[in-house]
Amino acid sequence: MSTLSQKNMLVCLLAFSMAAFGALAGCGSDSEGLGECPPDSSAQQTAGLSVITNSCTVCHNPNYANGTPAGGYDFSSADEIKAEAAEMYSEAAEGAMPPTGKLSETDLEALRVYLACTQ
Ligand code: HEC
Repeated sequence: MSTLSQKNMLVCLLAFSMAAFGALAGCGSDSEGLGECPPDSSAQQTAGLSVITNSCTVCHNPNYANGTPAGGYDFSSADEIKAEAAEMYSEAAEGAMPPTGKLSETDLEALRVYLACTQ
């Protein structure tokens, strides 16, 4: 009887710590703080791509400085956007990018949705 309840307790403890670890490791669909790609968000995704085109690609393009994009990141490339999505969002959310000033909440959220939906 006592061995059985000890066993149960161990199983519970194991399940609990695995769930906690999963949450810490960002298990599930939340890709490094980008959050969910909402259903029926195509308008917001289009707006998010415009944010990149209007507020990021002006510097982050291959012709920025003698054939080098700002910081070495070329956001005119869909592959590069997908690969750097989490980094792009965190820089924008911190207000570090664009250097001219933080995006509006609407633009920031559109950017987040677009990036989350590329993952
Ligand atoms: C006025 C030009 C300019 C604009 C506009 C701009 N960036 Fe940058 N960005 C830079 C430069 C220059 C660097 C490299 C130096 C630095 O990190 O400050 C950089 C670096 C970065 C980095 C790398 C940061 C790091 O620490 O390595 C990311 C990610 C980034 N930008 C994302 C963005 C995003 C997303 C936008 C649009 C919301 C944006 N940038 C708009 C000029 C710009």
